[in-house]
Amino acid sequence: MRRLWKGAGAIAAAVAVGLGAVYAWPIGTPPPDTLASLDGDVGNGAYLARAAGCIACHTNPEGGAPLAGGVPLATPFGTLYSPNLTTDPDYGIGDWSIDDFAVAVRQGISPEGEPYYPAFTYPFYADLSDQDIADLWAAFQTVPPNETPSIVADMTFPFDQRAALKVWRALYQYDPLTEPVEAQSEDWNRGKWLVEGVSHCAACHTTRNILGGRMIETAKFAGSDMLPGGGNAPPIDTASLLDGGWDVESLAYALKTGITPEGDAFGNAMGEVVLYGTQYLTVDDLTAMATYLMDQPE
Ligand code: HEC
Ligand code: HEC
Repeated sequence: MRRLWKGAGAIAAAVAVGLGAVYAWPIGTPPPDTLASLDGDVGNGAYLARAAGCIACHTNPEGGAPLAGGVPLATPFGTLYSPNLTTDPDYGIGDWSIDDFAVAVRQGISPEGEPYYPAFTYPFYADLSDQDIADLWAAFQTVPPNETPSIVADMTFPFDQRAALKVWRALYQYDPLTEPVEAQSEDWNRGKWLVEGVSHCAACHTTRNILGGRMIETAKFAGSDMLPGGGNAPPIDTASLLDGGWDVESLAYALKTGITPEGDAFGNAMGEVVLYGTQYLTVDDLTAMATYLMDQPE
């Protein structure tokens, strides 16, 4: 392990040296200019905000106002805090346009053109449609303004340099693996879209390398010991789930209730995934997710 960390130090140093060049490296593309003309559906937006964890991650469970931020996310490189997403123009995103919002959520880039840390799970939201974004935006407009100041990230050098994130993005940012498979059922494809995309199960269940990149080729859904705060997530590839005695029904039930087939409750981060997220999804969507999980492609 020590040698690995030394390797990380060397990479960090190289990243630091390359920073000068990297500052000038442009990222991101403008959204289509038709976005603002779409009619957003508040109900679907709120549903997506649950499925995607926006509400969970941007609401402080210790009495914070909805979406006012302040949830600490401890990473090996320092601590980040989810920002205030309420409609307050000074403390929240009340002065943003829907285009700013689309670029932040789908591409992970701020209105100032700076990359966000991938602890914000934007890599999983890249394939949200324009209509999905309009729906989310409509739902966010209903959130009352709140004057909770966002907390500045406390990251160690060189990870405090946002420009360095451009290098990380070039190496490890993958499009979500949500491409539909024609030979599979509609249910299976809906499950795939949710599991691989918005519900970002892979953020915790796919093994990460020393720089926090997901090892999607070799260790997809193979479990991870690099959760924010240092927890462990077990493997959820199909073979492991079958080994663990799961089937579509018990899995869908567990995602609804947090209760496993042994009668235990999901603990830790998974308890929160259910509490703030999956318990609000329809039985059809949970069954779709379970259908996909129990029959994942090789
Ligand atoms: C796992 C936690 C997590 C989830 C889930 C999450 N976010 Fe965030 N979000 C963050 C963090 C942390 C940041 C700050 C990133 C940074 O400073 O680089 C952030 C930043 C943002 C920003 C930028 C705000 C600003 O002031 O610059 C927006 C907009 C945002 N998130 C929207 C969303 C939406 C919409 C969703 C759901 C589709 C979502 N987030 C889901 C953690 C999360
Ligand atoms: C924030 C991190 C996180 C996210 C996101 C997450 N999980 Fe988990 N998951 C965990 C942790 C931690 C555990 C272990 C729970 C425990 O200790 O009781 C777990 C356990 C599980 C288990 C039990 C596996 C077993 O054999 O015991 C399943 C199934 C599961 N998760 C499915 C999912 C699905 C499906 C998603 C996406 C909707 C998801 N998880 C998203 C952290 C996460």
